[in-house]
Amino acid sequence: MSSNKETFGKTLIFVFIVCLVCAALVSISAVGLKPLQTSNRLLDKQTKILEAAGLLEQAGKDVKGTYAKYIEAKMIDLDSGDFVEGNTDMFDERRDSRDVTKSSKPKNDIAGINRRADNAVIYLVKDDSGKVTTIVLPIIGSGLWDLMSGFIGLAPDLNTVRSVVYSELKETPGLGAEVLNPNWKALWPGKKMFDEQNNIAIKLVKGGAKAGDVHGVDGLSGATLTSNGVEHTLHFWLGDEGYGPFITKFRTQLRDGGM
Ligand SMILES: Cc1cc2nc3c(=O)[nH]c(=O)nc-3n(C[C@H](O)[C@H](O)[C@H](O)COP(=O)(O)O)c2cc1C
Repeated sequence: MSSNKETFGKTLIFVFIVCLVCAALVSISAVGLKPLQTSNRLLDKQTKILEAAGLLEQAGKDVKGTYAKYIEAKMIDLDSGDFVEGNTDMFDERRDSRDVTKSSKPKNDIAGINRRADNAVIYLVKDDSGKVTTIVLPIIGSGLWDLMSGFIGLAPDLNTVRSVVYSELKETPGLGAEVLNPNWKALWPGKKMFDEQNNIAIKLVKGGAKAGDVHGVDGLSGATLTSNGVEHTLHFWLGDEGYGPFITKFRTQLRDGGM
């Protein structure tokens, strides 16, 4: 005698149990992998800061050690330019800029960021004798498709460019994403962000900058909109609503190797 033990109810219970087990597995791996994700994100950020500082080659595989030895992260209040207390490791510009109690709307939002966090973390790069050799400043601004974020490395005169390093962007490979191309990045060292009257003068030039133009960098071919985004981002962050107050206050001190 044959008996069919499969019933609709049993099938449903089976499906329910499989779903429950799968959901539990996904949750356990998400929670379990969170610390790894956080430490990978930190490592990635430290790698980019070392690149902006010109120390990536020297670091080799020892990103953490090199970062700990040569980089000092400091929090600043952007409006005053002063240093303030704060957990530099936990600071997240994007999170703060979504919090209305920790951010404000720029008056002249040329970078297209909508809100700007009140504070920022900057990175002082020191040599073996403790002298500041480079200051790395985070930047963020609209490209064609989305916000693009990265870092600029400046010499202690807070004018001469050492590097422009993008870390996160959604621009098109071969077009806007050419900001990541080493050949394009190599155009930046030595350029001057400000002119002699201290006006922000850096510009991306469509068709190519003239030889010897210390304020001009070649625009990205076929990616004028991304190039404009880079220029607007730099003008915003070097200006009064960005690092302007910090630059004015600490330029002399940094140029003299202090801090
Ligand atoms: C699929 C697609 C992707 C594009 N991606 C970008 C981009 O990432 N950045 C950009 O500036 N322009 C991009 N463009 C081109 C712009 O639409 C626009 O044509 C370009 O910025 C004009 O630049 P040009 O004056 O240098 O040619 C893309 C166009 C297409 C069709």
